[in-house]
Amino acid sequence: MHRRRPTSGWPLTVKYRNRIEEGEDSILTVQRARHGRFRCFPRTVRRLTVAEARESATFPAMSEVPLQVLAVVGSLRERSVTRIVLEHVVERLRARGAAVDLLDLSLEPLPLYNPDTAYDHPAFPPLQARVEHADVYLLGTPDYHGSISSPLKNFLDHFWREFAGKLFAPLVASHEKGLTAIDQLRTVARQCYAWSLPYGVSFLEDDVGEDVVLNPKLVQRLEMFEHDARVYGSLLARQRRADLAGVDPGFLARYRK
Ligand SMILES: Cc1cc2nc3c(=O)[nH]c(=O)nc-3n(C[C@H](O)[C@H](O)[C@H](O)COP(=O)(O)O)c2cc1C
Repeated sequence: MHRRRPTSGWPLTVKYRNRIEEGEDSILTVQRARHGRFRCFPRTVRRLTVAEARESATFPAMSEVPLQVLAVVGSLRERSVTRIVLEHVVERLRARGAAVDLLDLSLEPLPLYNPDTAYDHPAFPPLQARVEHADVYLLGTPDYHGSISSPLKNFLDHFWREFAGKLFAPLVASHEKGLTAIDQLRTVARQCYAWSLPYGVSFLEDDVGEDVVLNPKLVQRLEMFEHDARVYGSLLARQRRADLAGVDPGFLARYRK
């Protein structure tokens, strides 16, 4: 005899915001049975204003603290093209509301990392506060022997927990697309429980003039890069804050204070 599936204990429950336009904002609870049928339970929550509706449709919400970016120049060269490209992205980020802290390792040199002494160095606590404060790390490096530069690696070695749940965004000066250097930054991100953009941007010396990015294709790629670093950085920052404040068993649980 055919029996109807009981309505309680359905396996999957999804809740999502039903409408993001002016008017009623409702939460729609959808339950889906294994055999594919759906049950919906709309529940009106409250009315949204136009501004709120627009805000909830884009990230980050305008009412939130601005995205905090730490931009690290990993070349010590005076006429570094990495610095010029990084500054180009920094300007765009600032113009779109991000707060950017520029760390130029040629102006603020870090001693070579030694675990026995690094944390007692007077320069460490203020730098740690800057690293801790950031949501996104814009990491600029020249490609040296298919690797990231030693100043950038030295900077990264000083930190670990500070990077967890945040976003790495790599920029590489390279004659060879910088893929191995980008991969190394992804590896560092993984080791530190950070996220990485799914791509990096590389460029040649000829793409850059005296203090300006010349190549229009690179300008276009940097627009995309700036957008993605800002948008995905904001999403991750928001979720990271929620996870740190919450009680759910995500990977950030271990970083709760
Ligand atoms: C020691 C050294 C090693 C380098 N190795 C590579 C390399 O393996 N692949 C590459 O594409 N470029 C390599 N380069 C070239 C630099 O990546 C390139 O000149 C870059 O634009 C320098 O960036 P900067 O102007 O920001 O310092 C190397 C340069 C130096 C000095």
